[in-house]
Amino acid sequence: MKTYIVGNWKLNFTVGEASIYLHKLLKTLPNYRDLEIVVAPSTLALQPLSLQVDRHKIKLAAQNGFYRDTGAYTGETSFAQLRGLVNYAIIGHSERRYVLHENDKEIAKKVAAAIRNHITPILCIGEIESERAFGETKDVIRDQLIGGLSEVSDDELAKVIIAYEPVWAISSAKSAKLASPDEIAEVVDLIRKTLSETYGAKAAEGVPVLFGGSVNPSNAGAYLTVPGVNGLLIGASSLILSEFVDIIEVAKRVRA
Ligand code: PGA
Repeated sequence: MKTYIVGNWKLNFTVGEASIYLHKLLKTLPNYRDLEIVVAPSTLALQPLSLQVDRHKIKLAAQNGFYRDTGAYTGETSFAQLRGLVNYAIIGHSERRYVLHENDKEIAKKVAAAIRNHITPILCIGEIESERAFGETKDVIRDQLIGGLSEVSDDELAKVIIAYEPVWAISSAKSAKLASPDEIAEVVDLIRKTLSETYGAKAAEGVPVLFGGSVNPSNAGAYLTVPGVNGLLIGASSLILSEFVDIIEVAKRVRA
């Protein structure tokens, strides 16, 4: 399986800044065969960047999309409109769940809409700090996973990526803490077991599981060697080109 290095730019960079970043990144990177390098710019930047990007080196991801393809939905962008511009879409990120109040039902429809439009969903799941403190992590992970995949058929599971992002470890969280490799390993194992119960062991094995939460060049190696982790979803550190490139270099070394 490839190793995924995904930069989530969130609400950062103008279109011009995003284009300059991409230009520099393309110039720096060789074509890594075993690494899948992905950046998720703002929706506004996707069209111009899709014309600029060399897809042999870097793929684009949307940060969101709407579950209906067309219609009277003011302000939304559909996966049907994103089709052809991006290969991936981040769905159910904790900022969308907790700041923009998205629920598992909407997230499930978005996952289905992405697949329907030939876009690979990166379904984000993760517990908040108080849920972990109250021993609810397993239930939350299972609910978000089963809920988010409720419209995904057996055949479609191979088109899905899961990202485990403990919300308390995301750099924007107040007093964010680093997740330990053991904590991550336990949840990643639970994710594969849950997938296996619904879709079978073989299908579960084939689903890439990424980790995200304050990943930077100095901890990327440790996180990439957690059993069952197939890549990283990176926020703040991906905004600094040299750090993102360093993380890619770490991934290359770890996977060599
Ligand atoms: P962070 O963000 O790397 O800044 O913690 C990760 C994410 O929110 O996807």
